[in-house]
Amino acid sequence: MRRVALLGCGAIGGQIARAMDSGAVGGRLTHVYDADPAASARLAASLSAPPAIAENAHMLSSNPVDIVVEAASQDAVRDCALSVIQNRRDLVIMSAGALADGAVLEVLSDACAEFGRSIHLPSGAIAGLDALRATRGELESVELTTTKHPGSLRGAPGAKSLPASGAAEIFSGTALDAVAMFPQNANVAATLSLATLGPRRTRVRVVADWGARSNSHRIEARGAFGSMKISVSNVPDPSNPKTSRLAALSAIELLSRLCSGGGAVRPGA
Ligand SMILES: NC(=O)c1ccc[n+]([C@@H]2O[C@H](COP(=O)([O-])OP(=O)(O)OC[C@H]3O[C@@H](n4cnc5c(N)ncnc54)[C@H](O)[C@@H]3O)[C@@H](O)[C@H]2O)c1
Repeated sequence: MRRVALLGCGAIGGQIARAMDSGAVGGRLTHVYDADPAASARLAASLSAPPAIAENAHMLSSNPVDIVVEAASQDAVRDCALSVIQNRRDLVIMSAGALADGAVLEVLSDACAEFGRSIHLPSGAIAGLDALRATRGELESVELTTTKHPGSLRGAPGAKSLPASGAAEIFSGTALDAVAMFPQNANVAATLSLATLGPRRTRVRVVADWGARSNSHRIEARGAFGSMKISVSNVPDPSNPKTSRLAALSAIELLSRLCSGGGAVRPGA
């Protein structure tokens, strides 16, 4: 049975931990860590098979685990991802925005090659990455429009001038800039750009809409293959409205694939 360590015990980490605890994922959650000690203690105590709480983020991958799942923040990826790979563990990254920085991506890609490990990015809060990857060589343009309630955007550097009412576009630019302006909201932009034209050529618009009841993402892609429109309307996570429920579900699905002993038929994997 594959042993899993969890970095980040918030909305996504909590759902992953509960899915593992219920047996829905075929691995075992053995260690957790959160910068907020109360968050890791609360989560561990709520599980029927409580994992050990690591002393710090780096200790997490010193333990005999097979996979580390990051569900914390872009800073956590910048601080810990390299040591996870150097400790010869596979890594699942939720805070994909950190990889929009070409220097970070290069260091981690080189380390994966050197240490024979893999970094996995769940599709997160969007759909259709398989088809977009298939057309990658023929893509001419990719644009993401993300629409969220202002309450889900508040606090981001890019959300300084939110509309007083109605809906307004508050950002238009590259995926690279979107990640800097909306660090907790632009993981979708980063994941999309890494699968398609890269962070400098993938376009992003962010709309703040007081009427929005869901976090919605619309992708429009064009190229020699034809065109694609992908639209996703996500329920926000009750404990973190910046995060969509689909993001945690995609991580759980990826993890159950990584933890499965094989032998199953898995469409679209
Ligand atoms: N890939 C996607 O599509 C996608 C979608 C939604 C969220 N995310 C990202 O996934 C991450 C987790 O999201 P969430 O909704 O669970 O967030 P959350 O705020 O609910 O939980 C994050 C937890 O991580 C902890 N944390 C933050 N930085 C840390 C660090 N450096 N070391 C240790 N612990 C740290 C926090 O204390 C918190 O308990 C965020 O970075 C978020 O932006 C990605």
